[in-house]
Amino acid sequence: MNYKNSKFYIENIPVKKLVRSFQTPFYCYSKSRLNENIKNFNKNFEKTKPLICFSVKSNSNSKLLKIIKNNGLGADVVSLGELQKALKVGFKPSKIVFSGVGKTMSELDFAIKKKILLINVESESELKNIISLSKNKKSLVNVGIRLNPNVNAQTIGKISTGRMQDKFGLAFKDAIKIIDKYKNSNSVRFKCLSVHIGSQILSNVPYQKMMRVVNSFLEKVSVNFEYIDFGGGMGIDYANKKKFDFKKLALEINKFSKRNECKIILEPGRSIIGNTAVLISKVIYIKENLKKDFIILDAGMNDLIRPALYNAEHMIIPANKSNKKSKKEYDFVGPICETSDRFLKMKKFQKLNEGDIVILKDVGAYGYVLSSNYNVRPMPKEVMVDRSKTQVINKRQSIKDLI
Ligand SMILES: Cc1ncc(COP(=O)(O)O)c(C=O)c1O
Repeated sequence: MNYKNSKFYIENIPVKKLVRSFQTPFYCYSKSRLNENIKNFNKNFEKTKPLICFSVKSNSNSKLLKIIKNNGLGADVVSLGELQKALKVGFKPSKIVFSGVGKTMSELDFAIKKKILLINVESESELKNIISLSKNKKSLVNVGIRLNPNVNAQTIGKISTGRMQDKFGLAFKDAIKIIDKYKNSNSVRFKCLSVHIGSQILSNVPYQKMMRVVNSFLEKVSVNFEYIDFGGGMGIDYANKKKFDFKKLALEINKFSKRNECKIILEPGRSIIGNTAVLISKVIYIKENLKKDFIILDAGMNDLIRPALYNAEHMIIPANKSNKKSKKEYDFVGPICETSDRFLKMKKFQKLNEGDIVILKDVGAYGYVLSSNYNVRPMPKEVMVDRSKTQVINKRQSIKDLI
């Protein structure tokens, strides 16, 4: 995805050409970038060879999941819907892990029936439910214990998951107690210790702290885990500011797995899918204001909620570059009746006109999956480009569907 002769291309197709075929706003993915990301991720961790379970919550488009599965990855799911989708796409149950604080009896029942690799347990009550279900089935269920390591991931508070005030995982002492209490159960086997401290993490320091906590946990706990699941969270460079150092993390994880003689699971979402997509949108109106101009787009917070929800910054670029700069700051907003329906303020953007096409970058993770029908607006189309070919991988809803 790049400019050629001032025109932005997704693989071999200029965005302007895509807009002639597809109504804006729509998500557009690059298949080769997805394949490349997976290759790079594997390469970074080639010494450890972890089981990589793609975090389905970050993007659950079936066509994309199929590509991910065909690259040999497993799946990390957090609901019955995600689990069923992963199975339908063809992920092997032996490569699926199930996370989440609120798994219901029917979700647990289904996961046990399908004999997935692990159910990562987050409370004693959940464990009791698994035990009662597995007793009924006379089966032995493989579980992971999710530890809350009380580590600050140094990321946005709303996507931090590993501090004591966060709802996820079991506190150190509680996890030890629970393992001691149930380790001789005939119904569950503690196969894994899992941790996931948050998302969009850009520093290795929180991972190092997390590993230190895990190491001291392993010294105190009375069982040997076959797997350690370090979750996901590796951040991407949304605003050309800072890149996550994968090599450093890979080195430390490799050291860890050798020292503890265990297999590693990773659950990346954003770092695999985040930069594979853009949201293509049209300028409906330009509303001049004293100090800045509002650029009113046809994409709104129902199409991409991350800026409104987390103050996330998605860079905005023009589909066709020109040399004329706007003198005023641009405030890119959507058409929805909410003040928080805004994307980004940008200075020195090129001069825009109504009808121009702009591109919101890096929307592949937590983009379409968080879209909604707010304001009775149809959810947008998803398109994938594979060199010179396009494929609609999710139809745009029609207003008729919503009424
Ligand atoms: C349990 C679990 N694993 C993996 C992920 C994926 O995180 P990311 O997309 O930041 O890699 C998440 C998301 O927060 C999660 O909750």
